[in-house]
Amino acid sequence: MRGARGRIVNLLARLVMWRRRGKGSPDALLSMLPDSALVPLQRDGLDPVADLGELRSREPVSQLKLPLGLRAWLVTGYAESRAVLGAATTFSSDFSHLVGTVGITADQNPGGLGFTDPPDHTRLRKMLTPEFTGHRLRRLAPRIDAIVDGQLDEMAEAARSGDPVDLVQRFALPIPSLAICELLGVPYEDRTDFQRLSTTRFDLLGGVGGTLGAISESMTYLRDMVKRQRAEPGDGMLGMLVKDHGDDITDEELAGLADGLLTGGLETTASMLALGAIVLLQHPETRTALIERDDAIDPVVEELLRYLTVVQVAFPRFATEDVEVGGQKILTGDIVLSSLSGANRDGVPGLEGFDPTRASRPHLAFGYGIHRCVGAELARMELRTAYPKLLRRFPAIALATDDLTYRKLSFVFGTDALPVTLG
Ligand code: HEM
Repeated sequence: MRGARGRIVNLLARLVMWRRRGKGSPDALLSMLPDSALVPLQRDGLDPVADLGELRSREPVSQLKLPLGLRAWLVTGYAESRAVLGAATTFSSDFSHLVGTVGITADQNPGGLGFTDPPDHTRLRKMLTPEFTGHRLRRLAPRIDAIVDGQLDEMAEAARSGDPVDLVQRFALPIPSLAICELLGVPYEDRTDFQRLSTTRFDLLGGVGGTLGAISESMTYLRDMVKRQRAEPGDGMLGMLVKDHGDDITDEELAGLADGLLTGGLETTASMLALGAIVLLQHPETRTALIERDDAIDPVVEELLRYLTVVQVAFPRFATEDVEVGGQKILTGDIVLSSLSGANRDGVPGLEGFDPTRASRPHLAFGYGIHRCVGAELARMELRTAYPKLLRRFPAIALATDDLTYRKLSFVFGTDALPVTLG
């Protein structure tokens, strides 16, 4: 009984670590979950499946029927999701009770901000926040410009062969990867290694085992980098943290923070860049507006964030007390999953489609509450820079196929290849 229960918790733990990139592989673990638990991870093209909307209108907080009496809830309503994500004391994000108990070793512990509760979360987040605001981000802006221009040059070069260019490999993945290198202060000579690590880490074919291996490898790399920065602090974020807070943070915490930024900032932004490009190529008016008007981009990015909601489900929360949400009684220890894509389509009719002219309403694509994405402004900066540059540099860019395929059952929704012609 205990073993089976452990396996299910293990599955949830691994799923929620955003590492599972199920490429439709028949997976014994996945098959243990009932369909109702998979609905928030399923899409129909770019849209969440209709079942998600039906579930939300019927029961915005609904119990997932898991085997062996394991209790979990799926929250699909907007107000209900904010109620859960906004109550960090009642809904804990701390994963550490799973480490060592369900097959996750300390080495594979995601650590970092996303899996930490106050007071540690408050302490670590306070150190990180200045790196993501105001003048630090403005300092990064010219680097992001140069990174995007560099990738566009690479795309132009690749297109000379006459074959379609893969927008994921040449544009969507390298831009956030190099942006994180800039942010952290990864030395130039290490960047090829860093890019390889971040790509293998998310390599689909690695499956769960392979990807967990890549987590260990990247943690080893990051620990080593932290040691080097401790000895000789550079200008990047790790160097700054060592200089400003060196005595208040351990090497392991620093490596965990860096790892959290890699996990949080790479796949999410890459997915937004690729899927956003698809939407823009399918909406000629928006595409023209972005080419012609500098002020068109901000509402387009916000609507893309809401419409695509690439982080489909927030990290799981664990109830620390009995509590009622959306008329349901959640008991201490229950697992709560917030479907952000469900919540972002809750409300006025028409939220199903993409419409950047719609009056905006705050969306939950970056989450809500104390764990709201710390990299939101960096991500916005990357997206606001990259889309217009792409469309202006290649005004005739077009999808090279109608047969687009998307990741299945992945916590971060996305596509692994996007062939385009540049005209
Ligand atoms: C469009 C791109 C992005 C999206 C859609 C996104 C989405 C999210 C969401 C939904 C959360 C909250 C998860 C939860 O509450 O369970 C989150 C947290 C986080 N994100 Fe992002 N993210 C993006 C880009 C980035 C970037 C660029 C970075 C950093 C380089 C980053 C770093 C983080 C970190 C460290 C957290 C944990 C924050 C905390 O727990 O206090 N993200 N992100």
